[in-house]
Order: sequence, then structure tokens, then C-alpha cells
Amino acid sequence: MAVQKMKIKNIQLSIEEYDSMGDLPSADRQLMELAEQDIKKAYAPYSHYRVAAALSLSNGEIVRGSNQENAAYPSGLCAERVAIFYAKSKYPDACIERIAIAARSDDFVIHEAVSPCGACRQVMAEYEIQQGKDIRVIMKSEQGPVLAVNSINELLPMMFHAEELKKKD
Ligand code: THU
Repeated sequence: MAVQKMKIKNIQLSIEEYDSMGDLPSADRQLMELAEQDIKKAYAPYSHYRVAAALSLSNGEIVRGSNQENAAYPSGLCAERVAIFYAKSKYPDACIERIAIAARSDDFVIHEAVSPCGACRQVMAEYEIQQGKDIRVIMKSEQGPVLAVNSINELLPMMFHAEELKKKD
């Protein structure tokens, strides 16, 4: 019989699901309320898909951002990275503790919680490693359950990280 050389590694992810915003722990709910307030500030004339992110930091500050689009499409930036880069440039020593993300479309009802794009997950994941403290992410749209994870690891297992750039003997 041929020797089996291949193994399957299964990865288990833990994602919390809440029926509504009212069921969230209060710190999550308060941050999500701030994110929802900022949806209207998005500049999304092309996709009509508005996203806002609110971050709470270890120094007590809250930083918010919304997606900013551009006629040269790739020049725009997601709400998450607008908020994260601003937070980390203004308060480089503060840890990001929590990120609430909310989305709304001008054209249709969104039925599923917004799920951050791969680039935003990569950015969140690097800061999580750099700060040595997990980042909780709470995700919501207009309808459907609210989702939450306790670490970016649940959103981006097997991430590319800085260690991989270092030469190993
Ligand atoms: N977008 C975000 O801002 N965050 C996400 O998590 C998903 C997508 C933005 C990018 C673009 O402006 C629009 O939503 C449609 O992709």
C-alpha cells in the first residue's frame, strides 16, 4: 500500500453571533453605535456601499473612519484602514483594543454583517502581533446577526507576518 505523504490540517475558528446589537456586551454596543453614526460620512459615490469603523484604544481614545473612494478606483481606502492608520499615526504607542465595523448600501438592504477585506485583515493582524494584545472585531450591517471575534487570528489564520522577512540560519 502506498504511504500517505499528505496530511490535512483543519483550522477551527470561533465567531460569536448575536441576534441583534442589543445583545452585544455594552462596550461593543457603544462602539458600534459610534460606527453606525459615521456611515453617513463615507465618501462612496462609486460603490454606494458605505462603511464606518470605530476603534477604541488603550489610552481611552476613540478613533473613527469611513471609506473614502476615488475616481481612480484603487486610490480609495476602506473604512478600517482609514481609522487604523490615523489611530496609529496619532497614537503610535496605544494599543487597538476593539474595532466596530458597520455597513450600509445606498442601493439595497445588506443582509449579512460586513466582513473586512483581506488587506484590512492583514493590517489589523500585524498591529495585533506588534502590540502583543488581541484586537476584538465586531461586525454589523443592516440585517442579519452581529458577528464578533476576539482576535484577528480568527479572521486571518496563516497570515504573512514580519518574521517571514527575516533570514533564518
Ligand atoms: N469597504 C470598506 O470600507 N470596508 C470593508 O470591510 C469592505 C469594503 C469599502 C471599500 C469600497 O469603498 C466599498 O466598500 C466597496 O467595496
